[in-house]
Amino acid sequence: MMFAKPEVPNDPRYKALDRAMKKLGYAKSSLIESLHAVQEAFGFLDDEPMKFVAASLRLPPSKVYGVATFYHYFTLKPAGEHTCVVCTGTACYIKGANKIVDAVCKKHKIKAGETTKDGKLSLVTARCIGCCGIAPAAVFDKEVLGTLDEEKTLSNTIRN
Ligand code: FES
Repeated sequence: MMFAKPEVPNDPRYKALDRAMKKLGYAKSSLIESLHAVQEAFGFLDDEPMKFVAASLRLPPSKVYGVATFYHYFTLKPAGEHTCVVCTGTACYIKGANKIVDAVCKKHKIKAGETTKDGKLSLVTARCIGCCGIAPAAVFDKEVLGTLDEEKTLSNTIRN
């Protein structure tokens, strides 16, 4: 049977992930590198991109989950009801990503990688969410937002 590669969703993070897997030849043996690419683009190993990796590498999802949970350097889905992923890659860093991270930390009294005590918000950082053109950028749940400043960021984390 011909292998049908899954369609790449119209989302800059999936495009970045697909580029990384393509470079690795979609090889089954590149699973760990592919999961790193998920973490870099999404900030953590979210379910949907893991399924996408499984389909792209023709691996059973159980194998992908097994590897994801085995290695401590992978970050699994954060516990918060809402997730704010701030990109801290070069393009975003130059445009003040750190100020954005600091503002969220201060306002919500958490550090990157943590969840607020009330369980409402988790803060995660990513390496490049694939939208350098609108840096500094972040993802609030599923919504990608760009040209952020502290105020615009907090208005999104507070609406939660
Ligand atoms: S570095 Fe932030 S989107 Fe690329």
